[in-house]
Amino acid sequence: MRIPAQRTFFLVVLLLVLAAVESAAQQGKRYSVMDFHAAGDGSTDDAKAFAATWNATCGDSYSPTMVIPGGKTFLLSQIRLDGPCKSPVTVELDGKIVAPNFIWMTAAANLLTFYRVNNLTVNGSGQIDGNGDIWWTCFNQKKCHVRPILLAFASCNNLSVKNIHLKDSPDKHMTLFRCSQVQVNNVSVRAPGDSPNTDGINMAFSDHVYISNCSIQTGDDCVSILSGTSDVIVTNSTCGPGHGISVGSLGADGTTALVERITVSNCSFSKTMTGVRIKSWQGGSGKANGFLFENLNMTDVQFPIDIDQFYCPQGNCPQQDGAVAISDAKFINIQGTSSNPEAIQILCSKSVQCHGIYLYNVNLTCSGHTPQTRATILNAYGTIGGTVNPQVQFLGA
Ligand SMILES: *[C@@H]1O[C@H](CO)[C@@H](O)[C@H](O)[C@H]1NC(C)=O
Ligand SMILES: *[C@@H]1O[C@H](CO)[C@@H](O)[C@H](O)[C@H]1NC(C)=O
Ligand SMILES: *[C@@H]1O[C@H](CO)[C@@H](O)[C@H](O)[C@H]1NC(C)=O
Ligand SMILES: *[C@@H]1O[C@H](CO)[C@@H](O)[C@H](O)[C@H]1NC(C)=O
Ligand SMILES: *[C@@H]1O[C@H](CO)[C@@H](O)[C@H](O)[C@H]1NC(C)=O
Ligand SMILES: *[C@@H]1O[C@H](CO)[C@@H](O)[C@H](O)[C@H]1NC(C)=O
Ligand SMILES: *[C@@H]1O[C@H](CO)[C@@H](O)[C@H](O)[C@H]1NC(C)=O
Ligand SMILES: *[C@@H]1O[C@H](CO)[C@@H](O)[C@H](O)[C@H]1NC(C)=O
Ligand SMILES: *[C@@H]1O[C@H](CO)[C@@H](O)[C@H](O)[C@H]1NC(C)=O
Ligand SMILES: *[C@@H]1O[C@H](CO)[C@@H](O)[C@H](O)[C@H]1NC(C)=O
Repeated sequence: MRIPAQRTFFLVVLLLVLAAVESAAQQGKRYSVMDFHAAGDGSTDDAKAFAATWNATCGDSYSPTMVIPGGKTFLLSQIRLDGPCKSPVTVELDGKIVAPNFIWMTAAANLLTFYRVNNLTVNGSGQIDGNGDIWWTCFNQKKCHVRPILLAFASCNNLSVKNIHLKDSPDKHMTLFRCSQVQVNNVSVRAPGDSPNTDGINMAFSDHVYISNCSIQTGDDCVSILSGTSDVIVTNSTCGPGHGISVGSLGADGTTALVERITVSNCSFSKTMTGVRIKSWQGGSGKANGFLFENLNMTDVQFPIDIDQFYCPQGNCPQQDGAVAISDAKFINIQGTSSNPEAIQILCSKSVQCHGIYLYNVNLTCSGHTPQTRATILNAYGTIGGTVNPQVQFLGA
């Protein structure tokens, strides 16, 4: 069948119009902070303008976008953007948000909090800079006990955070608390390797979290997964410097922990303290199970594989019987170098032993002067397959 040129042209125009209508319907109205009197000069506090913009955006029923335009710098102190909103909201962050360059709070607060916002997308090429330097110094001098978190999401459902850049947070960079259905993609985090407690992404009481294509260089955990969390995938991301990807610490002060179904795959770690780690305190209870650590590259990592049921950072913990039960942890295709001869450490308690540990094709060599790596295994049951170096000896299968 031959379609006349005129009709083809009409069809193309119709399709273009339909596509435009659809994308307009998806994106809805745009509310720029500039229209709500933000200064964007980097020195006037724009918190009020942001709150007013959010108020208008959140009350719009047709998938609006809050715009933080590029080429400008917005000084913000503590601000909380509350939901629920009338419809899905996009926050387009193309500009730069900076925190005040002085010690600006003394009670617990975050720089930017989204609370009870569902169906939220935060996207853009912009960045949030926490000006953390003064806070780290203050903390190291034992003066600042509470420090602001850069970007916090609490009580949310269906969140997507894309492309943005987080930098120099006074404390953790991004936290998820009671969040469900979260996607974090192509987010970068940068803070110096010696900046205290500057976790990249930290989550608790959250589920169905998918982190991909991220690059995290900080002074603490790259990703930290705490109790109440399940169904997490971290993939295709890079870590280091920092402390690696950690589950825990769990079971502090005799608490009951629950963490289930965690996957870390296709990631590389460079000069981190641990690679992948599960840590719990003595005296806790509950369980942590269903771990898959697969296709991981380690470069100069101190402890590439680490399970520790005796976590005690101050080194002053009394011996206790209870422990968070750790089971079903698979380590598959993990290769590279360890800066410490002890490349694999699996230390489980005598009263609550570890079960179902599986290692398959693990090859960790030493980057230091000692050529030989070793594994220390205590009270753990498990199996091995393929080639495993260093040699591992479990209590049984
Ligand atoms: C929030 O928006 C509503 C209308 O949607 C308006 O009546 C109210 O004044 C606004 N509040 C602030 C603080 O801007
Ligand atoms: C999640 O949010 C996106 C964008 O905000 C929206 O298109 C989608 O329908 C939401 N999904 C659910 C299950 O609510
Ligand atoms: C999320 O958005 C979807 C689609 O607009 C809507 O059906 C759903 O009710 C929203 N979910 C929440 C929790 O607001
Ligand atoms: C995300 O933001 C980038 C520009 O910063 C833009 O190109 C892209 O279309 C946005 N994606 C979505 C899904 O909004
Ligand atoms: C990732 O984010 C950066 C910074 O926003 C952006 O330049 C780049 O295009 C993004 N990559 C993709 C694949 O979207
Ligand atoms: C990760 O990045 C790749 C390449 O830029 C892209 O194809 C893929 O869709 C991204 N993953 C997600 C979940 O967006
Ligand atoms: C992983 O990241 C690389 C490089 O950024 C990209 O080419 C690839 O498509 C990504 N894969 C996935 C599954 O996201
Ligand atoms: C990891 O990479 C492998 C091989 O490139 C791919 O088959 C697998 O789907 C990836 N895993 C995830 C969770 O993206
Ligand atoms: C790990 O290194 C090998 C060899 O250099 C490479 O083929 C593979 O893609 C790397 N995998 C990741 C997850 O970086
Ligand atoms: C383990 O890695 C070392 C260093 O990369 C390499 O020389 C050795 O052949 C590898 N062993 C196996 C069994 O792949």
